[in-house]
Amino acid sequence: MNAFLRDIPKAELHLHLEGTLEPELMFSIAQRNGISLPFESIESARNAYQFTDLQSFLDIYYAGANVLQTERDFYELTRAYFQKAARQNLRHVEIFFDPQTHTDRGIEFETVLNGIYYALKEAKSEFGISSKLILCFLRHLSADAAMATLEKAIFYQDKIVAVGLDSSEIGHPPAKFKTVFDRARQNGFLTVAHAGEEGPPEYIWQALELLKVSRIDHGVRCLEDEKLVERLHRDRIPLTVCPLSNIKLCVFDSIEKHNLKQLLDRGLCVTINSDDPAYFGGYVLENLEAVQTGLNLSRQDIVQLAKNSFTASFLPEDSKQAYLEEIDDFVASFSEVE
Ligand code: ADE
Ligand code: ZN
Repeated sequence: MNAFLRDIPKAELHLHLEGTLEPELMFSIAQRNGISLPFESIESARNAYQFTDLQSFLDIYYAGANVLQTERDFYELTRAYFQKAARQNLRHVEIFFDPQTHTDRGIEFETVLNGIYYALKEAKSEFGISSKLILCFLRHLSADAAMATLEKAIFYQDKIVAVGLDSSEIGHPPAKFKTVFDRARQNGFLTVAHAGEEGPPEYIWQALELLKVSRIDHGVRCLEDEKLVERLHRDRIPLTVCPLSNIKLCVFDSIEKHNLKQLLDRGLCVTINSDDPAYFGGYVLENLEAVQTGLNLSRQDIVQLAKNSFTASFLPEDSKQAYLEEIDDFVASFSEVE
């Protein structure tokens, strides 16, 4: 089954670039930039990755991101992710980046974007992995700060497909960013938002009604509201679910208690993603392995999840169709050799 999970063509739609910073690279960039880290060694960094909730993770995640300063740093970070993605047969990725985490430290928006973008182009030619960029606003900061970031992004619309909302969820409802998202949509950006990770179903409603999102990131708390499930189903709104993240941040007690299978069985368009793989113990393949084992998923479930990852993407229709056919061909040829 592992070869099946590894080799089936798949996409990742919920991946924070800053969350792919493995301790080895963190230490090497910190040394190059003369920055001291709050960890003594690579091993002690990994040992510190014990979280009790989203905020306890974010504190460490933002500390790690401080090492990133130059275009080269952002390029190396992005390249390292694509090398891993290629080994797991990721064919398309939609990557979040948090410019405010960097511009608030005096790093230019262009430094961040150019470094990332160079690696995206290279990944397309080197690995054949297509990609899109999603700019996330930090919701613990003000709507004015988000608006100022959006004004920057408008200059680079050819490189950024959508805007999203991440960071501390509780106490920062989507409604806080309605005006920012209105302006983003008027300027042609698609929209997504983290909602219903720790926050209540009401935040998912707000993301749909006020921010007019195309997808909900996480959204696992939707099952608490039957009308919401019906709405997500009716409008085919995808949920980008991140199982290992949910366990690490104590959203569920164990993988066996995760509600992914229920979401699938309700016919929702759920996808499997790694969120912040360097901090949560795995990339997409490890997430698939965890849910396959922990929830006893069938091969049909896995195929559905892989297909959903393309259906839910921001790829054009013809590319989606081509990937769906590739999956069918893969399944047929895999069955033959068994
Ligand atoms: N930023 C990085 N990972 C996040 C998550 N899981 N939720 C909210 N903000 C994040
Ligand atoms: Zn996330």
